[in-house]
Amino acid sequence: MSKRVRTAVFPVAGLGTRFLPATKAMPKEMLTVVDRPLIQYAVDEAREAGIEHFVFVTGRNKGVIEDHFDRQYELEHTLEMRGKVEALQELQKDLPSAGRTSFTRQQEPLGLGHAVWCARELVGDQPFALLLPDMVFQARPGVLKQMMSAYEELGGNIVGVEEVDPKDVSSYGIVARGAGPDSGFRITGMVEKPKPADAPSNLFISGRYILQPEIFALLSEQTRGAGGEIQLTDAMQILIRTQNFTGVKYDGKVFDCGSKLGFLTANVAFALEREDLADDFRKAIRELGLLEPDAEPRKVPA
Ligand code: UTP
Repeated sequence: MSKRVRTAVFPVAGLGTRFLPATKAMPKEMLTVVDRPLIQYAVDEAREAGIEHFVFVTGRNKGVIEDHFDRQYELEHTLEMRGKVEALQELQKDLPSAGRTSFTRQQEPLGLGHAVWCARELVGDQPFALLLPDMVFQARPGVLKQMMSAYEELGGNIVGVEEVDPKDVSSYGIVARGAGPDSGFRITGMVEKPKPADAPSNLFISGRYILQPEIFALLSEQTRGAGGEIQLTDAMQILIRTQNFTGVKYDGKVFDCGSKLGFLTANVAFALEREDLADDFRKAIRELGLLEPDAEPRKVPA
């Protein structure tokens, strides 16, 4: 039987350059989709999948993420005094339990592979989940939970994938699909940001992984790949020679909230799912004249 996955790693040390100036002093992972920071969606997804230990790889300007997962006595007291019971309960529900979070530092943003390597001492010799918090999903059950089912059956390494328009493959890590159903098929190869003509499929790695600890030894070689960064995909391409990799084409949809378009779309999609907001939000959009095809946005008076 495969070793249980108890630990999840959240790399949050990137510079978020695509979101400047918003990310100059504030971490990208604290941008909100409706009213929850991106990092909270990832932590909730991990908790739903049975994760017990939450490891954050942070960097400069990221202290606020640590504060976000801490108690705020003054705020809690004020909410209590004002009788805002629901808001208070909501805050308390979002916190991982005491002693279940760890923070380590990536001193230089040398790439995702390097960020994952920085977690090696905290993860130790056990399989772990890896969640990129800027990828937010609409999926029930959550994507990591769907991947856990495949892991329990097949063990090894598991990668969540989704279809992308074939002309856009060069923005992503793409897998080659072998035998097996969507819920767990053999991955026979991977390539980071291929040209459309060279891509082995249009299935892209969308930011959720279950990895075996042998990945750390490969990452420790610190070889620079695409963009001069230490790439996780490069280490996985070596590990696949000796270990099984399974793809899960999960039921759900990703929003790449590291890009402006994905972030804005996620806000609309999540707001329209919220019982407390959807009707009024739809009305507000209609008033802007944006629901008709080819509608021009209402001009804001100068
Ligand atoms: P991205 O490449 O999307 O994030 O990495 P980035 O580098 O911050 O963004 P841009 O491209 O400059 O806008 C995906 C995840 O990996 C983390 C990021 O914080 C993000 O959550 N990451 C990336 C690190 O922790 N360290 C790195 O060196 C690079």
